[in-house]
Amino acid sequence: MIIGGSSSQKLAANIAHEMDDVLCPLETRKFPDGERYLRIKKEVDDGVVVVQSTGFPQDENLMELFLILKTLRSMGVNDIRTVIPYFGYGRQEKSFNSGEAVSAEVVCQLIEFAGASSVYSLNLHEKNICDLFQIPAFNLSAMPAIAHYVEKNVEDPVIIAPDKGALGFAQEVAEILGCPSDHLEKIRLSPEKVETKPKNLDVEGRDAVIIDDIISTGGTIVNACQILKEHQVGQIVVSCVHPVLVGDALLKIFAAGADDVVGTNTLKSEVSNVSVAGLVAEALKKE
Ligand code: R5P
Repeated sequence: MIIGGSSSQKLAANIAHEMDDVLCPLETRKFPDGERYLRIKKEVDDGVVVVQSTGFPQDENLMELFLILKTLRSMGVNDIRTVIPYFGYGRQEKSFNSGEAVSAEVVCQLIEFAGASSVYSLNLHEKNICDLFQIPAFNLSAMPAIAHYVEKNVEDPVIIAPDKGALGFAQEVAEILGCPSDHLEKIRLSPEKVETKPKNLDVEGRDAVIIDDIISTGGTIVNACQILKEHQVGQIVVSCVHPVLVGDALLKIFAAGADDVVGTNTLKSEVSNVSVAGLVAEALKKE
């Protein structure tokens, strides 16, 4: 039995379909004062899969997740596998300055306290978030799904990471497709002059697929598009796992020269055209 929270109902339905499972109806709405009402409208089995991304509005989606988990526990459910396709607060997994809240750790503890038996997420911004849980936690990769999209839409691409941190994603996709990958790097030409360019490849005339885990404000990708344009690439396809897309991020990316932008459905957005339902279902079936 699968339950989708407000942020991930369609993805939950897709996962239910992939697993040949029943989607359990959930009634959730806000009281006039903004507080949340929630009711699980069906008898539940002993094992349930809950799907809820905790992106914007993060606090509301988290609160709803806690209510779902706690309610399932009080209904006697013993095994609650919790799929959090996009893990909100995942960028603050340690204290960078004294006195800072380690938000990711607090969120992990609350998810566990509310009743999750195990947690599945995709491309966590920091892999070590899995270690903040006492329960089993899995960090799945959406790269096979993105690679599938690229294979269908771009002939003979080069896969480019906008910075060294994203190189692992580019390499994973490139390995699946059997094509080259690289990352953009700042190179100091002289004490006064710095150039940013692909570290190893000559990309002139090639179609490029930029890949990152998150597109938030779009700044990283805008920069990457501009650099690739300076190096005379052909088409630019921008891809990411989590299309957070704050404000006019998407417009800025197109204005910087992207021909196509695609993200997965870990978050709802107008570019969430790659589904992770299949690979989440596969991971759930394995355990
Ligand atoms: C950084 O570590 C991430 O991988 C992304 O590059 C970053 O979150 C993107 O943020 P923005 O879209 O605001 O540049």
